[in-house]
Amino acid sequence: MTFSSHHLRRMFLLMTAGMILFTACSEDDDPAAPVDQNPSAVIAVFSDPHYFDPTLGSSGSAFESYIAMDRKLIAESHALTEAAVSAILSTDANIVIVPGDLTKDGERSSHERFAAFCAQLEQAGKAVFVVPGNHDVRNPHAVRYEGNQALPVASVTEQEFAQIYAEYGYDEAIARDPASLSYVAEPVDGIWVLGMDACRYSENEGEGHAVTGGRLSAATEGWIKARLQEAQAQEKTVFGVMHHGLLEHFQGQKLNPISADYVVDDWARLSGEFADLGMHIVLTGHFHSNDVVEKRTSESFLFDIETGSLLTWPCPYRIMRLNSDRTLDITTAVIENIQYDTGGDAFQDYAYGYLESGMLGLSTYILTSQFGVDEQTAQMLAPVMTEAFVTHYRGDETMTAEAQGVITTLKQAGDANSLFMASALEALFSDPPPADNTLTINLESGMVK
Ligand SMILES: [Fe+2]
Ligand SMILES: [Fe+2]
Repeated sequence: MTFSSHHLRRMFLLMTAGMILFTACSEDDDPAAPVDQNPSAVIAVFSDPHYFDPTLGSSGSAFESYIAMDRKLIAESHALTEAAVSAILSTDANIVIVPGDLTKDGERSSHERFAAFCAQLEQAGKAVFVVPGNHDVRNPHAVRYEGNQALPVASVTEQEFAQIYAEYGYDEAIARDPASLSYVAEPVDGIWVLGMDACRYSENEGEGHAVTGGRLSAATEGWIKARLQEAQAQEKTVFGVMHHGLLEHFQGQKLNPISADYVVDDWARLSGEFADLGMHIVLTGHFHSNDVVEKRTSESFLFDIETGSLLTWPCPYRIMRLNSDRTLDITTAVIENIQYDTGGDAFQDYAYGYLESGMLGLSTYILTSQFGVDEQTAQMLAPVMTEAFVTHYRGDETMTAEAQGVITTLKQAGDANSLFMASALEALFSDPPPADNTLTINLESGMVK
């Protein structure tokens, strides 16, 4: 157990407050009067809803060929968002956080409709906070589908994003970064939601597509650190929110060309510095996995709590309960039912089948086109690669004997490509602590139960 100077100061203040109360109170005073003013809250999180306005078309050959290359349940996005909102409405969450990729490809009308869902949550007294993902702003791929054509539609600028989500972060902010869509809000006394925007939308037009990778500019990094210093001075509990991972979610994620763009640039330095400035929790998305990882510095600690995509099996959402004893209880639920024709299948089976078949096709494509693997080897590797992604998406990863056998065969082959593939698969299958779906984090000590 390590204590930062912040913790020691806090303990000292609490002890001092306790002593003052002890000496000032007579025996007739209410013994149950609260000594500790730690804030509490219930926070619901769902990520990467990739909402697609149904009026932009969800049939026809152009749409069909788009979704053939996508593992997300885009056609079902309206039904899934509706289901997530109604599930969260039935909880006692008072804060709802969505860490980006709110829309399929940044279509303005998708944003407006998604904001209407946020309004439903707010009307029920739940404070909603969003940050942009790589798909959400200035996206050159914002299109509608008509027959065999994909036709451009309006996306949004960063100013329009902040206007559409004014009530879901930007107008409620107590501070906004002039250089990005980062902000701080304090929905509950003592709790800061620190939205961090690492998206590179200013480069999208030049690239001709939305840039997947994430980077904090020097200006934004400085702005975040200044806010963290204020939070420490004022003893706020900070929930960082960012679309991109602040930590690697499996070993070598930033080194593998397939997954590098899912972790923010310079993550090792930034995560250590943010942890030492008192950020113990960051809520992320982007890689579509339920995965929690931790980092320890000599001074402090940081947990990156990634939530899977609402549109990718297991279609999860999280409920996080911050208790006044400074523990954070995290549980994970999945969408069980949607208003959509699943051909008679239970929704979870339908979503699993969709991911499995989509990943098989995608894995074969990646292996043959990006790794130059021959067709026969791709047939052997694709099911294991699919299994690796599926178990990583669910979290609390497990590996079958068949997968272990293929990894052993790759290692025995011994060539550079086989060894690279074996270590990438092993990394996806292995699950560094802590648990991914159900856990309790002590925000004072960093201990996990
Ligand atoms: Fe996403
Ligand atoms: Fe993303």
